[in-house]
Amino acid sequence: MNNNAITLKQKLKIHSSLRTIDWKNNAVVMIDQTKLPNRLVFVKYKDYKDVANAIRTLVVRGAPAIGVSGAFGLALAALQSKAKTKEKLLADLEQARRILFETRPTAVNLAWGLGKIMDVAKKGKDIWAIKKSIIQTAKKMAEDDVQTNMKMGKHGAKLFENNDTIMTHCNAGALATVGYGTALGVIRATKESGKKIKVIATETRPVMQGSRLTAFELKHDDIDVSLIPDTAVGYAMSKGLVTKVIVGADRILRTGHVYNKIGTYQIALMAQQHKIPFYVAAPLSTFDLKSNPEDVIIEQRKASEVTTVAGKKTAPDDIGVINPAFDMTPPNLVTGIITETGIAKPPYPESIKKLFKSRL
Ligand code: MRU
Repeated sequence: MNNNAITLKQKLKIHSSLRTIDWKNNAVVMIDQTKLPNRLVFVKYKDYKDVANAIRTLVVRGAPAIGVSGAFGLALAALQSKAKTKEKLLADLEQARRILFETRPTAVNLAWGLGKIMDVAKKGKDIWAIKKSIIQTAKKMAEDDVQTNMKMGKHGAKLFENNDTIMTHCNAGALATVGYGTALGVIRATKESGKKIKVIATETRPVMQGSRLTAFELKHDDIDVSLIPDTAVGYAMSKGLVTKVIVGADRILRTGHVYNKIGTYQIALMAQQHKIPFYVAAPLSTFDLKSNPEDVIIEQRKASEVTTVAGKKTAPDDIGVINPAFDMTPPNLVTGIITETGIAKPPYPESIKKLFKSRL
């Protein structure tokens, strides 16, 4: 066994303490992220429709986490199915796939996770073999997610220096994945490499993933983090308080267009104005090599997320609301995209193609 393997194993053990999703005794166990940071509550589901509801209501969120949740959802659907033939089981799975897929339209990892399980199911020779291989594949996807993030962290850490102050938006951490995180994984790996860093986290209105989740996670890991309102991004950058930005992604096109939490685009624009490098960290499962920008559906969420704060009304009745969950950052604003196989730099059509080739 080489030293690398030992280190990776040890690190996996440490970071498994904050596991967002797990499979235990034929049930899916998740941290209920709507309760954070006030309470650490675990929920257990045995019905795939409950998993679909958990994805829709943000009990579980973050692109890689919902990809694995979708896979576990199909594993539950397989166990729930009373089908006596392979054809009927595949039909039951297809119905579950559709229900799970319709929960959130922008993060491409969901379609990726569901597609992977459906492929495995179609290859199975009988219903018992299909059920067994679906569960095994979904569990393996959860394990792989943590390892992928740690590899991404190793690549990304090279881009950050001692005394950097790194701005991040939303939550692209352990809670947005199965463990360790993408953008926060790179931050964790930078700290683990011995560099002294600070983090500035945006609150991320209206659902507050930055204050509720990113701040919670980084404090849990003893990383120096300051919280700012989303409206203070320009102030922080203009005062020289930020040296680099890193965010996660819900979908990245072959052209390098990045879809991420609403507000990412304006942060990227301000970073360019202040000549601050703007990085994106995402696994290859977040890339959508087929779609063009006009094909991507931006999820629109309910008005009450904007018209209330902590359950209290903060806007007049019947006000019109525009509440997109994501926006698109064009490739000219992105300094680099960190993945598990390496870092893509502009021009993206070529460098992204190379990343996928190097995986083979
Ligand atoms: O609406 P959310 O909380 O699911 O949005 C999450 C994000 O936008 C994350 O930045 C993205 O999924 C990357 S997570 C590693």
